[in-house]
Amino acid sequence: MTQDEIKALVAKAALPYVAPGSILGVGTGSTVNHFIDALATMKDGIAGAVSSSNATTARLRSHGIKVFATDEVETLPLYVDGADEIDPRGHMIKGGGAALTREKIVADLAQRFLCIVDASKRVEVLGRFPLPVEVIGMAAAQIARRFEGIGGRAALREGVVTDNGHPILDVHGLAISDPLALETEINQWPGVVTVGLFARHKAHLCLTGTSTGVQTVLIS
Ligand code: 5RP
Repeated sequence: MTQDEIKALVAKAALPYVAPGSILGVGTGSTVNHFIDALATMKDGIAGAVSSSNATTARLRSHGIKVFATDEVETLPLYVDGADEIDPRGHMIKGGGAALTREKIVADLAQRFLCIVDASKRVEVLGRFPLPVEVIGMAAAQIARRFEGIGGRAALREGVVTDNGHPILDVHGLAISDPLALETEINQWPGVVTVGLFARHKAHLCLTGTSTGVQTVLIS
């Protein structure tokens, strides 16, 4: 199987977790695109979705799935999204698709985070994938220096502006042994919009696609 076929497989395996009649949160990325396509097969059985990016909104609408604004819902039973890396405790690096801020906002509304990944995303320690950080432009150099101070190398993601109009720094060289502490620390730095560490908003359940099937890991 190709990696894309594995992504489609794991995306389809998420469908049974979608409660009939519910509004669910939907993430962003190539794995989630497969999930949205699969969700379309049961679109009459759900009320709609809250989207984490303009790209996801467009894809949901192209299938006739109703998209609700975040301020139209108080809570969501489920948020389904991919990840760039996920550790055994459900902590994730996200933001490879530059949607990290809205992803964290929608995840914050949700009672459960269901992460769908192919096996290449499962790691023991986060940090091989460069950590995305959405920043206010005028603070980028200062934030990059702060990362140098903790052993990281920050590079501006060329040609990318988020749906919120901000640049992204990708931080290389961090071995993230305590994701919650690092997320908390980076959140204190002026000019940081969102760090792509999802420790406070970690996954509760992870479906991992492999060429031989889908593994389900219940984290909490
Ligand atoms: C987007 C994300 C994605 O979840 C992450 O990049 C994984 O994407 P893909 O499913 O395409 O591998 O965080 O901001």
